[in-house]
Amino acid sequence: MRDQITIAMPKGRIFEEAADLLRKAGFNLPEEFDDSRKLIVDAPEAGIKFFLAKPMDVPTYVEHGVADIGVAGKDVMLEDERDVYEVLDLKISECYLAVAGLPDYEPTDIAPKVASKYPKVATEYFKQQGEQVEIIQLNGSIELAPLVGLADRIVDIVSTGGTLRENGLVEMEEIVSITSRLIVNPVSYRLKDARIDDMIERLAAVIEEEGTA
Ligand code: PRP
Repeated sequence: MRDQITIAMPKGRIFEEAADLLRKAGFNLPEEFDDSRKLIVDAPEAGIKFFLAKPMDVPTYVEHGVADIGVAGKDVMLEDERDVYEVLDLKISECYLAVAGLPDYEPTDIAPKVASKYPKVATEYFKQQGEQVEIIQLNGSIELAPLVGLADRIVDIVSTGGTLRENGLVEMEEIVSITSRLIVNPVSYRLKDARIDDMIERLAAVIEEEGTA
């Protein structure tokens, strides 16, 4: 029997978009996955099993080798260095990391407080800018922090810009653009190299075709 490939990825939109890419690459996945609460989704016809994890946790499953492959945002990869190979830019879930805050924010002599889910990226960015800041780590709803006086600015993902707008915040600087990446466990890559290379090549061909369409 051929090896099964296990893939960890976030549930929701990224799972849908990645599954769509795999279908276009010729993997026989069902048109729809019915039970949206399942955390393990089997696609035996394609020889693939999906593990649906929180975005920040995907590299953990891959690094520990329980998943051969992962779909992880570049934001997650920048924040947390892991012993995995980043092999392909899937060019899905495009967004960017930005600095934002209230429009009437006035710098003072005191180091500003910056709230973020990405303390490492934020620290490195402000260091590069030669600006001293105090980083406050949060796990989500980052936009709340400047509204209630927890922070002066935030470093967060901007996709449509809707969350910033609806909360009266403005974008100040763009830090880095983000897409989802295919990551691979080094041991899996050695043991299942033919299947993994085949998957990478087929996905790369679809992405290339979509980019030039
Ligand atoms: C992300 C991000 C922003 C929002 C950006 O949050 O942290 O809050 O989406 O998207 P937009 O520009 O299209 O409004 P997510 O929904 O993942 O939840 P979180 O705030 O709990 O991290």
